[in-house]
Amino acid sequence: MTVSAPHSAAQAGPGAARPSAGSRSAGRRIAGRRILVTSALPYANGQIHLGHMVEYIQTDIWVRAMRMHGHEIYYVGADDTHGTPIMLSAEKEGITPKQLIDRVWREHTRDLTSFLVSFDNYYTTDSEENRELCATIYSRLAEAGLIDAREIEQAYDPVKEMFLPDRFIKGECPKCGAKDQYGDSCEVCGSTYQPTDLVNPYSAISGATPVRRKSTHYFFRLSDTRCENFLREWVSGLAQPEATNKMREWLGEAGEAKLGDWDISRDAPYFGFEIPGAPGKYFYVWLDAPVGYYASFKNLADQRGLDFEDWIKPGSTAEQYHFIGKDILYFHTLFWPAMLEFAGYRTPTNVFAHGFLTVDGAKMSKSRGTFITANSFIETGLNPEWLRYYFAAKLNATMEDLDLNLDDFQARVNSDVVGKYVNIASRAAGFLIKRFEGRVQDSAMQHPLLGTLRAAIPAIAAHYEAREYSRAVRQTMELADAVNGYVDTAKPWDQAKDPANAALLHETVSVSLEAFRLLTIALKPVLPALAAKVETFLGIAPLTWADADVPLSSAQPINAYQHLMTRIDPKQIEALIAANRTSLQPTETGAAAAAAAGKAKQSAAPSAEAAKSETISIDDFAKVDLRVALIVDCKAVEGSEKLLQLTLDVGEAETRNVFSGIKSAYRPEDLVGKLTVMVANLAPRKMKFGLSEGMVLAASSADEKAEPGLYILEPHSGAKPGMRVR
Ligand code: 2FM
Ligand code: ZN
Repeated sequence: MTVSAPHSAAQAGPGAARPSAGSRSAGRRIAGRRILVTSALPYANGQIHLGHMVEYIQTDIWVRAMRMHGHEIYYVGADDTHGTPIMLSAEKEGITPKQLIDRVWREHTRDLTSFLVSFDNYYTTDSEENRELCATIYSRLAEAGLIDAREIEQAYDPVKEMFLPDRFIKGECPKCGAKDQYGDSCEVCGSTYQPTDLVNPYSAISGATPVRRKSTHYFFRLSDTRCENFLREWVSGLAQPEATNKMREWLGEAGEAKLGDWDISRDAPYFGFEIPGAPGKYFYVWLDAPVGYYASFKNLADQRGLDFEDWIKPGSTAEQYHFIGKDILYFHTLFWPAMLEFAGYRTPTNVFAHGFLTVDGAKMSKSRGTFITANSFIETGLNPEWLRYYFAAKLNATMEDLDLNLDDFQARVNSDVVGKYVNIASRAAGFLIKRFEGRVQDSAMQHPLLGTLRAAIPAIAAHYEAREYSRAVRQTMELADAVNGYVDTAKPWDQAKDPANAALLHETVSVSLEAFRLLTIALKPVLPALAAKVETFLGIAPLTWADADVPLSSAQPINAYQHLMTRIDPKQIEALIAANRTSLQPTETGAAAAAAAGKAKQSAAPSAEAAKSETISIDDFAKVDLRVALIVDCKAVEGSEKLLQLTLDVGEAETRNVFSGIKSAYRPEDLVGKLTVMVANLAPRKMKFGLSEGMVLAASSADEKAEPGLYILEPHSGAKPGMRVR
């Protein structure tokens, strides 16, 4: 297999060769386009929240708008399943990573489906297709001389026996001395530093002091001039000026050699793909994640009999777009195109980055109840199309942050979607059915108002293609205003009073319903379920852009009007906030959502509210019999990834047997001979592995994902087994 960088004429000069989705093709119908679209892959250890939904909704609207042109378009996604945080999350839950990712895949699929996100394939990065593609890419990069093996020194947790990613090293801030700060920056004084600068560093997994240890790592040589030259050229085709500027910043001036090599390997234990020919070394999750786009598409291509190779070969005439958040631009505009280019594949046509979501002008917050999960939105009975409409009304092609203002959300959905748009149909349908057998007046289809609407449709379609959804929505609502103005002037309710005005009434309601059909075309990418209801109500085939010129006909009577959409009740918003506030209690997936690994910038630190609990009386406390216990024996429990079996001396004639979920934090031999504290009067509990006769006390953060680690309590020396703790 050749490893030189194929750079065919069709791909040369990405800017020149790429049909720009943002501008050049906007407004025109280019028949026969073939398009592959992706959204970023969510990590498989957290729930989908409304921050994620900005991207899925943005992508889905684009895909649906392009499908309405009749293009051959495939929208693929997957869960991003590998890496240390997912491995540790599974361990903490006492399940295998595979069990965790399977469960989360079901949850993610449920949430995406409920928000009408129309993936053609939603897959997983933990697939054979992905393993093979990663191996191919890696071997081609190696053949091209772009992989280096080097020994590096890293922090190592001697208790957990693993290398520590930076985010799992904590300690005291070297500037202000604040305790328990992460390895990259201090949340108290805001200074940034290296994990090696931390004072009294400790592993956030086991609490042990990290040691420095050497290991061989594999690097993708991004600093190679071939990569730099390729990227300098590729950058010129990016659609967003902010992205181009960022790229220029990362690339620096010619000769500055700013690009560093990229460490693409991790040591065992790691949940991921072992690197071929390098036992104990795994591909870093960020290498296999974008390859997961292709793996998902390969899986789809196999299901549908598509020629996968033809889509991904250099010079492919297919287009390829990646929708992402602005925080992961680096991976998608440097590593990913360079990997593809030098592994002999086509490169992305464009990358579209969006901003972050704020709620009521602030970062999403658990204590305020604004860290809203997709599932809670649906469970509270809110209509996902309300959110789709609101996001669409605010989205544009830039990387600006988007604010979900909850008052504005209610006002805008109620006034625009229900008040202006749905209202047109509800006012006209009754008259048409009762007075005219549901058949429109054919001559009314030529009314000038309808001409105005039809003429506007191509521009609206072009706004969608250019990702200027707010313009598409604004223009559509201006047209809806014009239609409502027409109805208000014609006054069908007055026309209906005099049988002599029957023809006029027929015209008014026919124009109204045809206008409603045209507005439905304009809103269909945003409100697909509502559009489907309208298609049923009007008795017409699924609407496309081209149908703007195919008016309603008297030959096809409309069906009985059914309620299309309700207004938002403010109580629903209150319930939504309350539902998300209660998710402060650490639950299986609630805690995972807090971590939303890599999305920490959108999560909140555990609040004071979370830490506070109801008061109890001293008598209540006295009911708990806390005793000093000596750990006389400790062993792993066969068949459990979570439990250790402790034999405890609490000063009684017999020792106690206790199962404790602390395996992730301690090796059995390290606990033998230590003192701890146990609840001695807890009712014995029959477990799968035997009877547990009490509980040892351990400290952990309320948000175990944000601050992993378990610490069993240990009395000062001098305490004796059986002593009461009070
Ligand atoms: O930042 C994230 O949430 C990553 N899981 C996105 C991966 S996108 C792609 F590269 F797979
Ligand atoms: Zn500090």
